[in-house]
Amino acid sequence: MRTDKERPIGVFDSGIGGLTVLREITRLLPSENTIYLGDTARVPYGNKSKDTVARYSLEIADFLVRKGVKMIVVACNTASAFGLAELRKKLAIPVIGVIEPGAKAAVKATRSNKVGVIGTEGTIKSSAYVSAIKTLNPDITTNTAACPLFVPLAEEGWIDNEVTTAVAKRYLTGLMNLSIDTLVLGCTHYPVLKETISMVVGPSVTLIDSAASTAEETKTTLADKGILNDNKTAGGHFFYVTDSPERFVAVGRRFFGERLEGVEITHLDTL
Ligand code: DGL
Repeated sequence: MRTDKERPIGVFDSGIGGLTVLREITRLLPSENTIYLGDTARVPYGNKSKDTVARYSLEIADFLVRKGVKMIVVACNTASAFGLAELRKKLAIPVIGVIEPGAKAAVKATRSNKVGVIGTEGTIKSSAYVSAIKTLNPDITTNTAACPLFVPLAEEGWIDNEVTTAVAKRYLTGLMNLSIDTLVLGCTHYPVLKETISMVVGPSVTLIDSAASTAEETKTTLADKGILNDNKTAGGHFFYVTDSPERFVAVGRRFFGERLEGVEITHLDTL
């Protein structure tokens, strides 16, 4: 019989981007079993309405709960901005998103109290980062910019070419003119473009990738609930997608850092 501690952590995203978060979770918590769901049939979430993204998030959470997960990590900024509150209301297991951990890390990093946040249209429109940062430190000014083209560029593998650099300059110049010293990469895909973004904003700006801080938050949450898996054996990782496992495997490697094994398709019973 599987104990509560051995139950998997459920991680979900609109597609492959959340693999950057899963990678950090598996690095920090190598004994944990995980189930990842990438909603590849309905990606992107970044330009969809709050109601739609919240509904998708609930459907996925329901699927993960039926798979027996002990907690859920919403590894998508847009779903965290639009769906997290609803999920926390409805589910009996702990649920964390990527926005609070990212905001915390930004508040810790800034010296000038001028923070920039970039993300999808939905995340930026929601003002979720601005509110989270303000709650932690009202003295910080947060400016934001939506960078929708970064998602397809990251998926295409255009990590560091002249097109990506030109797009980054166009998106980031406004924020740089506001003298930010900290920039939150508020979208799961952006860590893949970290080097180009860093080159454009220069060495004086600290980049915050919420994946690592979300992994820390996952650990703290499990420890607080007494359900960290203390087995010493390596955890198992299962992947579900709602469309095209082949593409997920091909593109996902860049996001996860290693080959993805055991990817299955599901229709969530609701699609
Ligand atoms: N995963 C999404 C996010 O972090 C980016 C991709 C999408 O638009 O669905 O906001």
